[in-house]
Amino acid sequence: MSKIKVGIIGAGSISESHMNSYQNNPNAEIVAICDLKEERAKAAAQKYGAKQTYTDYNELLANPEVEAVSICTWNNTHAEISIAAIKAGKHVLVEKPLCRSVEEALEIQKTVRDSKKLLQVGFVRRYDPNIGLLQSFIEKDEFGELYYAKASILRRLGNPGGWFADKERSGGGPLIDIGVHVIDLCWYMLGRPKVKSVTGNVYHKLGNRSNVKHLSFYQAADYDASKNTVEDLANALIRFENGASLMVDVSFSLHAKQDESAVKIFGTKGGFEIDPALIIVTEKNDVMMNIEPQIDNKGFNFAAAFQNEIDQFILNIENNREPISPVEDGLELMKILTAIYESAEKGVEIQL
Ligand SMILES: NC(=O)c1ccc[n+]([C@@H]2O[C@H](COP(=O)([O-])OP(=O)(O)OC[C@H]3O[C@@H](n4cnc5c(N)ncnc54)[C@H](O)[C@@H]3O)[C@@H](O)[C@H]2O)c1
Repeated sequence: MSKIKVGIIGAGSISESHMNSYQNNPNAEIVAICDLKEERAKAAAQKYGAKQTYTDYNELLANPEVEAVSICTWNNTHAEISIAAIKAGKHVLVEKPLCRSVEEALEIQKTVRDSKKLLQVGFVRRYDPNIGLLQSFIEKDEFGELYYAKASILRRLGNPGGWFADKERSGGGPLIDIGVHVIDLCWYMLGRPKVKSVTGNVYHKLGNRSNVKHLSFYQAADYDASKNTVEDLANALIRFENGASLMVDVSFSLHAKQDESAVKIFGTKGGFEIDPALIIVTEKNDVMMNIEPQIDNKGFNFAAAFQNEIDQFILNIENNREPISPVEDGLELMKILTAIYESAEKGVEIQL
């Protein structure tokens, strides 16, 4: 079988994880790379052996050799590039979040449904090996009815600046950037129940804390602290039609003692924690048990999850198979995220 020929659109930080994983996949070959910054595209092409580089994604999409693309650009371009790519006859792996609004998501969904191409959303947390492990427990009904989920990703100093801090290009702050990962993960593990209502709060209190000295933090490829129009902190309570609920809080800036990452899901027969480390909780013989699975990686394995996401994308193309993170789920997440912002703005609960 010939290799699937891939184009990369956006050659910044996260594209490295895509390109490394394609390079490790014997059935994929990176043939073209596009970035607004020519030198960035050229440097990546040299490293990964791509023949063509572009600064205009339309030119990459016009290359008939390219069969599939990874879209690793700013969030404000995801909809436009996904739609153009599908219309150009390419399969698409688009980074999270799918886009910035429900309207954009509906347009992408329509384009995908009208085509014979597949679109996979980069909800990379779903592809972590520990998620497969937990799903095998869920399938055996080890936890009973899962009815409550709680997720926190609190950075006390972690506004990446640049486009991430520009609401026009990002669509929002920690909620749309890191909240999307854990909201999606919890919703996926709860069995993707239909959302009933959303209540949220969003705060712009501390700014990006770029004044802080003696402590380093992740910065975007084009770091710029001068502009910041996104929230510092968001929290939300999401109610589902089956009675389950999800409570979440996420921040870029907060007067917290330390950073925190926690994802916990609770059921009638047991529960589990995914972050910071996998642990299973249950009751046996009238005794409460905290069970620590003996596994290679107790926490999120970023490299393995990315490899699995890319491997699944290639397999889905080869076998004409629906991804486990389809466009419909990208749309559902956009409904949740935009409802949280709307609830915060209006100060009321939003019914979906
Ligand atoms: N899955 C994850 O864990 C994860 C982690 C980080 C970022 N992301 C997502 O990946 C995307 C990119 O984030 P990043 O951290 O790599 O940002 P980045 O700023 O490091 O890189 C983005 C690149 O896209 C290029 N670009 C922007 N618009 C373009 C266009 N129209 N055509 C061509 N190139 C364009 C920029 O020049 C830049 O090089 C975002 O959607 C982000 O949410 C996902």
